[in-house]
Amino acid sequence: MSTSNERLSGKVAVVTGGASGIGRASVLRFVAEGARVVVGDRDGAGLADLAAEVGDAVEVVEGDASNEEDVTALVATAVERFGRLDVAFANAGIGSAQRIVDADLAEWSKVLDVNLTGPFLLVKHAGRVMDRGGSIIVTASLNAVQAGTGMAAYCASKAGVAMLVQVAALELGPRGIRVNAVGPGFVRTALTEGAFLLPEIVDGYVENTPLGRHGTPDDIAAVTAFLASDDAAYVSGTLQLVDGGAHIMRYPDILGIVGA
Ligand SMILES: NC(=O)c1ccc[n+]([C@@H]2O[C@H](COP(=O)([O-])OP(=O)(O)OC[C@H]3O[C@@H](n4cnc5c(N)ncnc54)[C@H](O)[C@@H]3O)[C@@H](O)[C@H]2O)c1
Repeated sequence: MSTSNERLSGKVAVVTGGASGIGRASVLRFVAEGARVVVGDRDGAGLADLAAEVGDAVEVVEGDASNEEDVTALVATAVERFGRLDVAFANAGIGSAQRIVDADLAEWSKVLDVNLTGPFLLVKHAGRVMDRGGSIIVTASLNAVQAGTGMAAYCASKAGVAMLVQVAALELGPRGIRVNAVGPGFVRTALTEGAFLLPEIVDGYVENTPLGRHGTPDDIAAVTAFLASDDAAYVSGTLQLVDGGAHIMRYPDILGIVGA
């Protein structure tokens, strides 16, 4: 990643799930573009590494993105430490793989809690304190629009996020707050590292991606930084797919590939 832009100069952001993958790349990009960032994650060691790498432009807060007290504390830290909040990126998310007929209810609920209720809580608390307008971004997925076997909870949570940002854009637009979702395709991160152990899965994704490769966290961070910036001043209520064009093809049958 390289940029000479300072599009986020003077802005203060919060990012959930910022210790790894897409969230981490976005934190680095936001800082490179001039922002100060309060980073939340449940991974304290990952947060400490990030803080050591970046220095004063970040503040880290360990916590659970699906817990209302922790989300409140994250937003309060931004206001107390940096005096304002301009950008909120609800990015923490988890996956799961289970056929509906075999599904464990607790696993279904956990995925919905982190992937959908978590963003709802950040929209709620960030929306309360953004008194000069702002930009809220939620990480959805290609799976907001494309179904995958074994992925009922994940797909439903991400489709829910795509609609959550529309309702939030309606409610918060009159206060100058834009709300958008970013929808990554298949990106190499800790979340997908298991899939990289099986070349057939990677091939299945890449064959169904017109641009012929998997994505990188920086591919996604480029779009989250755009949405955070005033370059996106007239963009709200959208789902920005960043998937190499995969949404116009078909999702690989993951359970079929692994023989489950
Ligand atoms: N990697 C992909 O292919 C892909 C594709 C589409 C969407 N996404 C979405 O991107 C987002 C980021 O995923 P990633 O691929 O960077 O994965 P990742 O595992 O590298 O990063 C996710 C981060 O979120 C944190 N986290 C998870 N649950 C949390 C919780 N309850 N509270 C606080 N932090 C929590 C993890 O500790 C981790 O640091 C997720 O919402 C994921 O669903 C990823």
